[in-house]
Amino acid sequence: MAPAPHKRKSVHLLLMLLLVSLSMLFIFSLSPSNPKPNPRIQPLHQNPSPDTNRNQNFTFVIKVLAFDRLESLSRCLTSLSKAHYDTNDRVHLHIFVDHFLQDSYTGSLDLDQKLNLSRKILDFVDGFDWGFGEKLVHYRTSNAGLQAQWIEAWWPSSDHEFAFVVEDDLEVSPLYYRFLKDVIMNYYYNASNFSPSIYGASLQRPRFVPGKHGNKLQLDNGTCIFLYQLVGTWGQLLFPRPWKEFRLWYDAHKSKSIKPVLEGMVTTGWYKKLGEKIWTPWFIKFIQSHGYFNIYTNFLHERALSISHRDQGVNYRKTAGPDSHLVDENYSDFSLLKLFPLSDLKWYDFCFRRVLTNRIVDNYRTLGPILQSVQKNNSVILVSLYRVHEAAIRNMLCHFEKLNVQNYVFVGPMSHVLLDLARRGHPVIDASHFSDVINLAKSITFQDSTAELIKEILVSAYVTRKSLDFGYSTWVLKGNMLPRNSDSFYDSFGLRNDVFIGKTTGLLFVRSSTLTLKIWADDFVYKIVSLFDALLKDSMPRESIMLDVVEKLLEQQKIKFDDIDAMRLGLSLRTVHANATTSFRKENKFVYWSSETKLDIIQRQLEHLDMWVIDGDFSCTGVFCHPS
Ligand SMILES: *[C@@H]1O[C@H](CO)[C@@H](O)[C@H](O)[C@H]1NC(C)=O
Ligand SMILES: *[C@@H]1O[C@H](CO)[C@@H](O)[C@H](O)[C@H]1NC(C)=O
Ligand SMILES: *[C@@H]1O[C@H](CO)[C@@H](O)[C@H](O)[C@H]1NC(C)=O
Ligand SMILES: *[C@@H]1O[C@H](CO)[C@@H](O)[C@H](O)[C@H]1NC(C)=O
Ligand SMILES: *[C@@H]1O[C@H](CO)[C@@H](O)[C@H](O)[C@H]1NC(C)=O
Ligand SMILES: *[C@@H]1O[C@H](CO)[C@@H](O)[C@H](O)[C@H]1NC(C)=O
Ligand SMILES: *[C@@H]1O[C@H](CO)[C@@H](O)[C@H](O)[C@H]1NC(C)=O
Repeated sequence: MAPAPHKRKSVHLLLMLLLVSLSMLFIFSLSPSNPKPNPRIQPLHQNPSPDTNRNQNFTFVIKVLAFDRLESLSRCLTSLSKAHYDTNDRVHLHIFVDHFLQDSYTGSLDLDQKLNLSRKILDFVDGFDWGFGEKLVHYRTSNAGLQAQWIEAWWPSSDHEFAFVVEDDLEVSPLYYRFLKDVIMNYYYNASNFSPSIYGASLQRPRFVPGKHGNKLQLDNGTCIFLYQLVGTWGQLLFPRPWKEFRLWYDAHKSKSIKPVLEGMVTTGWYKKLGEKIWTPWFIKFIQSHGYFNIYTNFLHERALSISHRDQGVNYRKTAGPDSHLVDENYSDFSLLKLFPLSDLKWYDFCFRRVLTNRIVDNYRTLGPILQSVQKNNSVILVSLYRVHEAAIRNMLCHFEKLNVQNYVFVGPMSHVLLDLARRGHPVIDASHFSDVINLAKSITFQDSTAELIKEILVSAYVTRKSLDFGYSTWVLKGNMLPRNSDSFYDSFGLRNDVFIGKTTGLLFVRSSTLTLKIWADDFVYKIVSLFDALLKDSMPRESIMLDVVEKLLEQQKIKFDDIDAMRLGLSLRTVHANATTSFRKENKFVYWSSETKLDIIQRQLEHLDMWVIDGDFSCTGVFCHPS
């Protein structure tokens, strides 16, 4: 902040006015507030929902993937044809018949049997009457396998075409189409319920948690419809845009021989065993890197709108029988079919952990609920994203996930990265639109060159204040560092002072106490602005100006603090060498680097420390679940 000379006198008055309003805010915040987290939901501005005028006119294509199981196929097609379709809807049926494996049948008798079976299947399909739209049969000339069958089954011809993929040993409920149509109308064409994160809907009963060794999934009976990252291959509806995106992603990765390996996932074990025979590891890796979700239903008593008979074939050596019970025509509990507004649904990741999407805070008043919902052990970590490489931010998040650090909030200028972090469930504070600071800026002219810096400092100060009010210890740090262990953020240094400052590491720690509340008293904004102003006159803005300001605040009030740098809590990334085990000293709790460090150097050095945990898509190399 650098008010123009003629404005300087009025600054005091304006600040006094401001303080009055701020004090009122604090009175509000100090009164016992609603402890239930209720963060504001903000819709994404990118990827607006598809043109809603088209909604009555979408195309629905059933993609049946068949091979050599005539009876299964017959049961599957019969169930599809017995479903309820609305009079004016056109529902197309595309049947893909894979060819048998030529090599496996050397004896001419076997070969003739196979040829006869294929013919029988084609005869059956040809004779199968489909009155709801066009029927198309695709008979392959050689064995494609499940991966190509799935992936090549569809290239959406528009944003208004939907594919419902069924393998031949599935059977669907007569109510399946009604439900899927409702899903499309409600979660795709209704703009207020649309999310670009949703890639489709699975009709199968949700069964397992891939990040937890495939453990059985536990749902309470209150959850009827929910969002879950995992694809369900027994009756999957696909939305056009994400599927197209997936096909391009798959193409780029497969062509470059990048494997869909995702540490910690049971599906990666399948991939290691079955390789390119299956497609799900590819799709799962894509979903993880894009942060997408699938709609699922939870009908009680092991019921579902689509079941798999798990017949002997590529997936099962022996017939395993139906996985669930089909919801039949007489199903009366229609409340379960009710499609709730998107904002009422729960979202779950590959660990089946709740994901709270789109938590974006842009004012002091709504900071409370978000801090309450993230705090752990009465401690909150505020991470500044200013001047941090996107890859470093993503790497930090994966690192947090690995270490089970959950009590963080990001603060940064509004950007597509910030929005994306919020979409994926990370709490963010939008400093660009933080209304309390904006109002302040209206009364004082910030110089362009320092406006962002003072905004960053003020928003961090507001968050710290709010956090201290709740009695939380507060870490303020930059994204240019990583904790070494999960306990790096414990307040366990055995120090007496309530404030630690590390100017080189860029770390600030404030324990909530009467003393620290005194520093962040009602007039802290005024003090910070004037100190910032004074410090700017001394020198050009520096990286550590926020900590300089805090230091001066403490000195003014004769409050003692500890120097984190002197305690060697941080290890400079510069000093890391290739055999990294010798890099860390016992007392090091963090590794840090400066904003000027080039990304390739950050990556190389962190790799030495085994702390670079993202891939070429900037997404985590693994899924790290923790006991909840
Ligand atoms: C629906 O599709 C038909 C055929 O493509 C077209 O003639 C009609 O105008 C479309 N209706 C709307 C509302 O878009
Ligand atoms: C294949 O079908 C033909 C004609 O239906 C029949 O003559 C022949 O015996 C069948 N071959 C085998 C191996 O089943
Ligand atoms: C959930 O289902 C069980 C068994 O069907 C029942 O005993 C229990 O009361 C149900 N709970 C709720 C919240 O509906
Ligand atoms: C549905 O109910 C009717 C009449 O009660 C009965 O005839 C029919 O068999 C039932 N359908 C199923 C699939 O159970
Ligand atoms: C769209 O969804 C909202 C929220 O669920 C609902 O209130 C509204 O009625 C829906 N609009 C239509 C046209 O169905
Ligand atoms: C809380 O912090 C203390 C150290 O201050 C630590 O020993 C304890 O494990 C932490 N508990 C949790 C749940 O993080
Ligand atoms: C590890 O680093 C130390 C110190 O830089 C060096 O002396 C030693 O030779 C290195 N060891 C290996 C195996 O590279």
